[in-house]
Amino acid sequence: MLLQISYWNYGDFQAFLLVIGINGQFPGPVLNVTTNWNVVVNIKNDLDEPLLLTWNGIQHRKNSWQDGVSGTNCPIPAGWNWTYQFQVKDQIGSFFYFPSLNFQRAAGGYGGITINNRDVIPLPFPVPDGDITIFISDWYTKGHKELRKDVENGIHLGVPDGILINGVGPFRFDNALVSDGIPFHTINVEPGKTYRLRVHNVGISTSLNFRIQNHNLLLVETEGSYTVQQAYENMDIHVGQSYSFLVMMDQNASSDYYIVASSRLLNSSSLAGTTGVAILHYSNSQGPASGPLPDPPNELDTFFSMNQARSIRWNVSAGAARPNPQGSFKYGEITVTDVYVILNRPSELINGKWRRTLNGLSYFTPSTPLKHAQQFSIPGVYKLDFPTRMMDRPPKLDTSLINGTFKGFMEIIFQNNDKNVQTYHLDGYAFFVVGMDFGVWTENSRGAYNKWDGVARCSTQVFPGAWTAVLVSLDNAGIWNLRSENLDSWYLGQELYVSVVNPEIDKSEIPMPDNTIYCGLLSSLQKDQSQRFKFSGAASSADSFHSIMAVLIMTLMATFIRTMYSSFHGRGEPV
Ligand SMILES: *[C@@H]1O[C@H](CO)[C@@H](O)[C@H](O)[C@H]1NC(C)=O
Ligand SMILES: *[C@@H]1O[C@H](CO)[C@@H](O)[C@H](O)[C@H]1NC(C)=O
Ligand SMILES: *[C@@H]1O[C@H](CO)[C@@H](O)[C@H](O)[C@H]1NC(C)=O
Ligand SMILES: *[C@@H]1O[C@H](CO)[C@@H](O)[C@H](O)[C@H]1NC(C)=O
Ligand SMILES: *[C@@H]1O[C@H](CO)[C@@H](O)[C@H](O)[C@H]1NC(C)=O
Ligand SMILES: *[C@@H]1O[C@H](CO)[C@@H](O)[C@H](O)[C@H]1NC(C)=O
Repeated sequence: MLLQISYWNYGDFQAFLLVIGINGQFPGPVLNVTTNWNVVVNIKNDLDEPLLLTWNGIQHRKNSWQDGVSGTNCPIPAGWNWTYQFQVKDQIGSFFYFPSLNFQRAAGGYGGITINNRDVIPLPFPVPDGDITIFISDWYTKGHKELRKDVENGIHLGVPDGILINGVGPFRFDNALVSDGIPFHTINVEPGKTYRLRVHNVGISTSLNFRIQNHNLLLVETEGSYTVQQAYENMDIHVGQSYSFLVMMDQNASSDYYIVASSRLLNSSSLAGTTGVAILHYSNSQGPASGPLPDPPNELDTFFSMNQARSIRWNVSAGAARPNPQGSFKYGEITVTDVYVILNRPSELINGKWRRTLNGLSYFTPSTPLKHAQQFSIPGVYKLDFPTRMMDRPPKLDTSLINGTFKGFMEIIFQNNDKNVQTYHLDGYAFFVVGMDFGVWTENSRGAYNKWDGVARCSTQVFPGAWTAVLVSLDNAGIWNLRSENLDSWYLGQELYVSVVNPEIDKSEIPMPDNTIYCGLLSSLQKDQSQRFKFSGAASSADSFHSIMAVLIMTLMATFIRTMYSSFHGRGEPV
């Protein structure tokens, strides 16, 4: 992830690394908005590669033009800027943005998105005394360019070199395992107060267990839904997932406390020391955190992890983006119109290259975004023929989309026949997670679905040798990315798109923005690209939005920044 440019010895070696910063920060700034606000973000790409930022969990109602993935947008060339404009319509909750192309998330470039309740809709808990965004991630000493080359060549990423908390870490919890002088993250708190912690796993492929010494985590929200409030000692957070916890500062501050993120469900003994540790510091603390780290669950206990996931439920009586209770959308009573059983299996060779497939298809990224091909009626860029089940045929590369039925109600079952946890994510929607279990899904599995308070969210984990079922109401016209959030799987083709067309009202989708960048078969439409931070067309003005509530206007500059890391797990040769 982090491009290492030089290193030297101080007893333990330390390294300067290049990460992708946003406005000079790593992690980037939080976009702090309220339901229905319009967001105008001018992105300047000061990297040496094309860039797209995507807004994980933002639904972009009828506006997939702003989604920032390869199927909807041309990459923003190095040295260019581009302005995204979207509304966070009918949403609340905790999300994040990140660079969607070329394995760049492994180098950073991410930041939080917080969507607050409107004043007219009370939170389903007392207003917290503070709001804190935390990113946890696995970390490799190799840069993202080297990592993606490895992945292309079928070289397994192996166990991570470390776990970061907000881009740094760990605190020196063990003198033998962690060398001196490593920057670590500290969260300052006041005794007696309650904070909302928004925790995001922005890593490459490692599931992480999050916990705080001597403190409970009261789960209150995940990816835009208020949950039944339950206290956990720790929470498994899979790649691409986001959770909000209320944490009460109810300890006597005899010391600081450890905040820990450690790997889950990785079968490896070489992980000793690769633990992320930050510090919870009370203003009246009597001294540094000490003693052993709080216990993790058994590393390989998938049953624990699945039971915990099943215990997360929707608070059907809480209002969220709208005043009526979340549960007034009775998803369990809606008739399913389309069923897809989507199979993940281990990497396979296709045309001599290592690829990942879903139902035997590995996504081929056309040079013309799907959305552009649709707009300009260019035939042959994609097909609407993604199979509803695994077919008996050899795996292949293809640009095959799900033909979603507008206003239909789709059931998707993800079946994971590989050895690692995968997280599957759908843009443009929240889906209801209605069931997960070990073994092979059958029609009979529906009997155990949660038809009442399954939580609506934008991502779900699928355990190895297990399945997860989701239901989604296809009410948002557009072309929407369905992907593995695990970067290695995604990079090798584990994605597809769901096309949802409203046949009745042609104009219901927001039109193509004036500032669209063209590429592929349409690149002749693109004007001059030479000038640094040249903009590719007039920006449509913010007042093209109907019902403006409020606007957040920000400029985000993506650059490589230098940051210092050390080898902190004692197996250390520089790469
Ligand atoms: C986010 O914005 C809300 C109101 O718009 C404000 O009350 C809150 O303090 C802000 N949060 C942060 C972390 O800046
Ligand atoms: C691009 O950035 C320049 C400043 O560097 C700014 O003047 C221009 O408005 C931006 N273009 C858009 C529309 O994002
Ligand atoms: C604070 O708590 C620790 C253990 O939880 C205990 O050992 C210590 O005596 C307590 N200190 C005070 C001042 O209450
Ligand atoms: C862990 O790996 C070892 C050897 O690599 C293997 O023998 C063992 O079965 C694995 N355990 C699990 C639970 O996967
Ligand atoms: C559900 O939300 C309501 C607010 O509408 C809140 O009072 C209640 O405590 C929540 N219930 C649970 C179990 O979290
Ligand atoms: C896609 O589905 C729509 C109905 O939602 C149907 O009218 C259309 O023919 C389908 N297209 C293809 C290529 O199957």
